[in-house]
Amino acid sequence: MDRLIIKGGARLKGSVTISGSKNASLPICIAAVLAPGASTIANVPHLRDITTTSTLLQSLGATVERAGSSLRIDAASINTVEATYDLVKTMRASVLVLGPLLARFGRARVSLPGGCAIGARPIDQHLKGLKALGAEIRLEHGYVEALCKKWLKGARINFDLSTVGGTEHLMMAAALAKGETILENAAREPEIVDLAAYLNLMGAHVEGAGTDTIRIQGVEQLTPADYEVMPDRIEAGTFMIAAAITGGDVMIHNMKLEHLDALCFKLQDAGVEITSKDGVVRVQGPRRPRAVNIKTRPYPGFPTDMQAQFMALMCVADGASVISENIFENRFMHVSELQRFGADITIEGKSATVKGLRKLSGAPVMATDLRASASLVLAGLVAENITEISRIYHLDRGYELLESKLSGLGACIERVQGP
Ligand code: EPU
Repeated sequence: MDRLIIKGGARLKGSVTISGSKNASLPICIAAVLAPGASTIANVPHLRDITTTSTLLQSLGATVERAGSSLRIDAASINTVEATYDLVKTMRASVLVLGPLLARFGRARVSLPGGCAIGARPIDQHLKGLKALGAEIRLEHGYVEALCKKWLKGARINFDLSTVGGTEHLMMAAALAKGETILENAAREPEIVDLAAYLNLMGAHVEGAGTDTIRIQGVEQLTPADYEVMPDRIEAGTFMIAAAITGGDVMIHNMKLEHLDALCFKLQDAGVEITSKDGVVRVQGPRRPRAVNIKTRPYPGFPTDMQAQFMALMCVADGASVISENIFENRFMHVSELQRFGADITIEGKSATVKGLRKLSGAPVMATDLRASASLVLAGLVAENITEISRIYHLDRGYELLESKLSGLGACIERVQGP
């Protein structure tokens, strides 16, 4: 199994280019199912989750071809409406195929995803929405079986909580429903805006994405379209923290700073300098960051997907910070691994108190989920001596070429294979 070996202490310097967004690519590639024909999706990162998505689409009968960073998805040949447990358990987002299949073919059978390392992550809001659109839903043998008459029917849906996947799922299904759907208390993440733009290029009528009320006028048929996915805001945020934690000076290309306002404010409070010129963002780390409190919230609040990485930064900050996780109930698994670096962290309920130390010391640690793994890499970059991170297949789900991008900035990091 691959491991990462990091020798800490290098100040990162130079330029890095951010890849396409994983969390925008996944629903966009799945939305291609809605139109019988070939769409080319550009700026799709090479990641394990994308490979799983391709396998999922191929298992339905679609043709998927990769050329560089583009995926050509031809959904004309779809001949099955079932997504099996094998696929859905490896990647929860596979469940998003339920609505598009149902909307286009009138039926679908998709495995329930089951539990997840960071929380229970039910899909009750997705199913409640599909029922409101007229689907008949049965849960049998671990699968969701959904049926509808010829068409789904537009409806007013009020989410009980802000759900990114739920909003994306209902937006896709409603695009082919008869009449108007209104999604209230919708999530506002940039990935939702990106998906809406792709749907609209396919001929959908989606308005209000990025606000908490989205209106969709259903159409009878969608046509394939070519689209370029937005840059990955979480990868960009992770590199901002990599610059900050090493006291580095990094130029970040192909990122949208406006997607990371909440993170930027907190980094600036911590003493990090962030400037932007001609679309390139420069991040200069302080000699030592100041302690800052954060609370994760749905967009535009502080992203839960940046919580673990920010915690790594706070481990070496001057002072104590309180980090509250409000989105997932079990997203502190990195804490016990960060403690192996000597970090002083205590957890009470939804909050972790981090007392910053001048130094961390390198250690063998284990990745537990995607963003937790990123926090271990960041800690390894500043820790004294050697850090060895195992189970890095989690990182390969979400960070394209992480070690070569970090090496390009001067980090001492390499991937080794074998026991
Ligand atoms: N929730 C419910 N019922 C539902 C749906 C969600 O209770 O029907 C709860 C979840 O359990 C969670 C909260 O609502 O506590 C928010 O979940 P949401 O649906 O917004 O999350 P998601 O769509 O499953 C996406 C990202 C996650 C990211 C979250 C929050 C993708 C593929 N995944 O998940 O990304 O953390 O939004 O921003 O877009 C990651 O990239 O590492 C990652 C986990």
